[in-house]
Amino acid sequence: MKIAIGSDHGGFLLKDEIMKHLKEKNIDFVDFGCFTTESVDYPDIGQAVGEAVARGEYDKGIICCGTGIGISISANKIPGVRAALCGDCFSAKASREHNDANVLALGERVIGPGLAKMIVDTWLNSEFQGGRHGRRVEKIAKIEEKYRRN
Ligand code: RB5
Repeated sequence: MKIAIGSDHGGFLLKDEIMKHLKEKNIDFVDFGCFTTESVDYPDIGQAVGEAVARGEYDKGIICCGTGIGISISANKIPGVRAALCGDCFSAKASREHNDANVLALGERVIGPGLAKMIVDTWLNSEFQGGRHGRRVEKIAKIEEKYRRN
């Protein structure tokens, strides 16, 4: 499994914690930035990680900003991206099992690193259940298709 990970300055420290955690677990990842705590714009990082996942270059993405909101909204603009902002393990599990979420969004100013790491583990270890959930995820793709411009 290969993960694309990214954050703005508001999620930089949480990204760092998560990267250490992934390293400890021998999970492959590539850091899409940012690389310092200097202020950057979260849409740029959400787009970069989202596009890499949508192109199939990475199995999953993890994105962090202050709240997780701006960066998840940005990533979700990319067709094929299903980014789930999670602040608890129940949602993380359901986002994989029901929504086949391929990007996990976290808010550094909302949750602590301990919970964030538990959410990451739960999310990475949960599988899409298909069935009726598959039908619903296909409907999401149809909405994207309806509004796709290029
Ligand atoms: C940056 O200050 C902050 O707005 C950003 O990290 C995020 O919370 C946006 O949704």
